Amino acid sequence: MEKNHQKQYSRKEFLSFLGKASLGTILLPPFLLSCTDTNKSTEVANSSDKQLEKPELEALLPSDKDDLLLANGLVYHTLLKWGDSISKEDTFGFNCDYTCFIPFDEKNPTDGLLWVNHEYVHSLFVSGYNHRDDTQERTKEQVEKEMYNVGGSIVRIKEENGTWKIVENDPHNRRITAQTPITLNWDQTIKGKSTVIGTHSNCSGGITPWNTFITCEENYDNFYGETIYDENNVASKVPSRYGWENFYDYPTEHYGWVVEVDPKNGNAQKHIALGRFAHECCTLFQLEDKRIVAYTGDDKNSEHLYKFVSSEPNSLKEGTLYVADTINGKWLPLDWENQEVLQNRFKDQTEVLIRVREAAKLLGATELNRPEDIEIDPVSGNVFVSLTNNKSKGDYHGSILKIEETNGKYDALTFKASIYLAGGEENGFSCPDNLAFDLSGNLWMTTDMSGSAMNKEDSPYMPFKNNSLFVIPRYGKEAGKVIRVATGPRDSELTGPYFSPDGKTLFLSVQHPGEQTRDLSKPTSLWPFDKDNIPKPSVVAITGDLIEKMNKLSESEKV
Ligand code: FEO
Ligand code: CA
Ligand code: CA
Repeated sequence: MEKNHQKQYSRKEFLSFLGKASLGTILLPPFLLSCTDTNKSTEVANSSDKQLEKPELEALLPSDKDDLLLANGLVYHTLLKWGDSISKEDTFGFNCDYTCFIPFDEKNPTDGLLWVNHEYVHSLFVSGYNHRDDTQERTKEQVEKEMYNVGGSIVRIKEENGTWKIVENDPHNRRITAQTPITLNWDQTIKGKSTVIGTHSNCSGGITPWNTFITCEENYDNFYGETIYDENNVASKVPSRYGWENFYDYPTEHYGWVVEVDPKNGNAQKHIALGRFAHECCTLFQLEDKRIVAYTGDDKNSEHLYKFVSSEPNSLKEGTLYVADTINGKWLPLDWENQEVLQNRFKDQTEVLIRVREAAKLLGATELNRPEDIEIDPVSGNVFVSLTNNKSKGDYHGSILKIEETNGKYDALTFKASIYLAGGEENGFSCPDNLAFDLSGNLWMTTDMSGSAMNKEDSPYMPFKNNSLFVIPRYGKEAGKVIRVATGPRDSELTGPYFSPDGKTLFLSVQHPGEQTRDLSKPTSLWPFDKDNIPKPSVVAITGDLIEKMNKLSESEKV
């Protein structure tokens, strides 16, 4: 399929693509059948197409209210809140991020396993430790509470009479935490280990063609610090923000990887071949010959965009990791065997992969403005990358980068890069983060302005108010416009948008409501307004006419 990606989709190919993109999707909006000429525009279809109905979208205004507000035609139900019991042993973790849902049976999209990332903790809420109080030192017990509340959750969920509910105590329900043993998918040990302890900093993720979850370790240096090297290649240690290494001195080299989790039993492995850095996400594509292409970005100021291409079918181990030169449109191989400049600095390929940021810079990779989420457009085949911002370079509002692989081949070594959409007041959004294409190819986007700068008079983020969810319709009169359809509670970020396979539900995380709280008796948010009177990161299920209209699906359209 990758051969003619830019030019034309046959119906079969499109279905095959949707199957990969959204796991067993077997629905096709009828108007897509007439939409194979993507030469007119790869992002916005011809709005005069008679078959296309105009979705009636009423945009929300920016809001600083402490609530999750939705556009007309949308409703939400809170599915899982921090601290909820999911089994006899386990509770739902903190700061939920990436979500994805795998049904047990493709024919029944309303019963399956939900994966949720838990990225980091607000210590005051989770362990009671207050970093602003100089008289306090974080205890081992506090560290252990924090370690439990990161990682991920697997929870069986079911839709009954239009409402999603968790199946409490289902044998699949379990937590993966910063204390869970995880194997390394690599032939050499790292810091003497082939099994390491835990995962944390789990930001966004992905899904494999073989139906397992991918969770990505992002700001790993917050928990066990970082090892840095001077010009003479002499190592030194930078301490972490959370100080976990004071009680559990696990090597920081065990973190910053792409992690795969088996939904059925929770077994996890870290994929060393995809490199070590602040992975936001990992978006996989299976080529015709079953080799895997994985896109992943490093969400740090002036870091890079990467692509792994496997040499073996369905492998995330054998293959080559490339880094992007977006100026010249080249994927540069991070290959120690064939790169003298890498041989001069690193002792082997394992060291290149552990210190991949340094290696990327030696090859002349392009510095980008914090690559966040990456999604493949199911209609044009182009790859979209959120560049959230880079204040160090004066980019406050970010943009979305479009990558067009040469001849639409995902294993190509050349590409064209351009800006698809810029953040800022003109387009009404700032700091793009997560992206999700729905089943019709409309692009949904969440934003991540930092909690300390939102709603501040002297901040460039003031006009945008609370972080929000937007949709960019593909068809009709509103095609290409950026339309705000949800705004989050105070201090929060909406993350992890994921459509159910039938396109009728949007799962969404509400992360860090009330993050600016400094005193538990005066939280800055009370969402989701439960009996505990504290803010709780939660996953909601959003349904309603608007989602169904955007997805344009009905029973009769099943194929
Ligand atoms: Fe955790 Fe890059 O956002
Ligand atoms: Ca993110
Ligand atoms: Ca972010």
